[in-house]
Amino acid sequence: MASPSLSTSTSCSSLVLFSIWACSLMVASAANFNQEFDITWGDGRAKILKDGELLTLSLDKLSGSGFQSRNEYLFGKIDMQIKLVPGNSAGTVTAYYLRSEGSLWDEIDFEFLGNLSGNPYIVHTNIFSQGKGNREQQFYLWFDPTADFHTYTVLWNSQRIILSVDGTPLREFKNMESIGVPYPKNQPMRLQSSLWNADDWATRGGLVKTDWTHAPFTASYRNFNADACIRSSGASSCSSSSSSNDAWLSEELDSTSQERLNWVQKNYMIYNYCTDTNRFPQGLPPECTATNSS
Ligand SMILES: *[C@@H]1O[C@H](CO)[C@@H](O)[C@H](O)[C@H]1NC(C)=O
Repeated sequence: MASPSLSTSTSCSSLVLFSIWACSLMVASAANFNQEFDITWGDGRAKILKDGELLTLSLDKLSGSGFQSRNEYLFGKIDMQIKLVPGNSAGTVTAYYLRSEGSLWDEIDFEFLGNLSGNPYIVHTNIFSQGKGNREQQFYLWFDPTADFHTYTVLWNSQRIILSVDGTPLREFKNMESIGVPYPKNQPMRLQSSLWNADDWATRGGLVKTDWTHAPFTASYRNFNADACIRSSGASSCSSSSSSNDAWLSEELDSTSQERLNWVQKNYMIYNYCTDTNRFPQGLPPECTATNSS
């Protein structure tokens, strides 16, 4: 059992029962990119490596690249570890989002706006329901997102959407249909990600351009996990990494998470549409002024 010559892949089948169990749990917790995703564009610039454990997107002067999930999700808790473009990433945008089809689409966005070396990325977030967004919030991070992988999570259930980083919530969007705010709940969405050039607006509002002498720019992805309801041919079936763990379906912020959300919003939020009164001269959107909104 302690034989050092066993490789990790063969050890799963040759160890005692306890280890087989531990092994299958590990397999379940990080899905294989080859099975879960299709590369959608970029002419070879997106690559699935290490037998499906790692995915990289790259961008050069000719093109960016992207991928999307094979599955369509109707609610889920979706984790991905991402390591953003290091060094001088000014002008680049790494988008990571869920989106449905059609002209009245729903969408939940993380967008990472690059910067000059040593200057902070901006995490730009937005939520669209029925084709309408205009719900931007932007944040700095409390760590360097290019030095290592960090876990970006979208929790989406019938009551709320929570965007988190390493388990710390940045943003919560509650279901406020009761006051007439459309909420994404009928249209299945695919997980998508892309790396592209947006130097007309991304960094310092477009003042800093992409420096192509640093190309190709690369972002990396690993340890995708979806506890989610998967939609196929009209039916929805829900799965979890451990069968007893469907807590995400009704998950909400506990008091500790609420405090961390408040901490992020107080210290790291740099733009909030809900406080941009110049932008909404007719009055702030209803979800911003509802008493229980955050
Ligand atoms: C880039 O760095 C500048 C200077 O620190 C900062 O004002 C800006 O918000 C940073 N991020 C982006 C994406 O422009």
